[in-house]
Amino acid sequence: MARIEIVPSDAPIGAEIRGVDLSKGIDDATFAEIDEALSEHGVIFLSGQRVTPAQQVDFSRRFGELEVNAFSKFALEDNPAVLVVSNIKKDGKDIGYADAGSHWHTDMSYTRTPPRLTMLYAVEVPLKNGQPLGDTWFASACAAYEDLPPDLKKKIDGKRAVHRFAAKERGVKKPVQLTADQIAKNPDVIHPVVRSHPVTRRKALYVRKGECIAIEAMPEEEALPLIAELSDRITRPEYIYRHKWKVGDLLMWDNALVQHWAPRDYEWPDRRLMLRTTVNGSVPF
Ligand code: SIN
Repeated sequence: MARIEIVPSDAPIGAEIRGVDLSKGIDDATFAEIDEALSEHGVIFLSGQRVTPAQQVDFSRRFGELEVNAFSKFALEDNPAVLVVSNIKKDGKDIGYADAGSHWHTDMSYTRTPPRLTMLYAVEVPLKNGQPLGDTWFASACAAYEDLPPDLKKKIDGKRAVHRFAAKERGVKKPVQLTADQIAKNPDVIHPVVRSHPVTRRKALYVRKGECIAIEAMPEEEALPLIAELSDRITRPEYIYRHKWKVGDLLMWDNALVQHWAPRDYEWPDRRLMLRTTVNGSVPF
């Protein structure tokens, strides 16, 4: 099998993997290189792919067990591990989850074991004057941690934040209407403010304003501004990799290293269609 090429972006995160055709399958050595590249670069993508939902699921499963998302009414009928992320309407109704990622966040930090990685396969990408719309932005929470002033690093050392599924202010344009059942099934969870990557042990900030509602043993008037400051540091321009989508891109991100945001700069009848799979993670430490 030909060796793959890993081409890092200009940002502190993000790399393109070249020389792989996922529809033909990959051997264990190639998979190991891709897996390692994800832990190193936080966001990786393979362009020009033509995969079926079943092939995406098979590839995703090599990274671990798959999650089924809370908003699973948008899962593919014959493949419930694949979530449709789309603004497309059929008979006046959304065919997919239209507002996914419309605020900065790391996936499902409100769960005890947030997903290790999330994967998107671009099926339709809106264009304006030949340029893609609907970019996804990624921020390096590890570079943001590493650049913190020493006194701030000391201040947050060993601290734990409370993450709330139903946090009121999620910074979204159209907040998702949660059912009482969804809220009851997702009690608050506590995670370290600085988490270590499960493979590399690299440290990263793991808080987000609007989703973290407190820091243990810290008064609210101190904790909320601190959460806001750390959140704003993560999304500074120097830590951003912005992905411009092409049909056939298959991209994944490591939720222990990056936060992401998908601003909606396109409107129906522009069409954007992504198929998303999510791989289980472990308890952050
Ligand atoms: C997501 O946050 O899962 C969706 C991101 C995107 O649609 O670009």
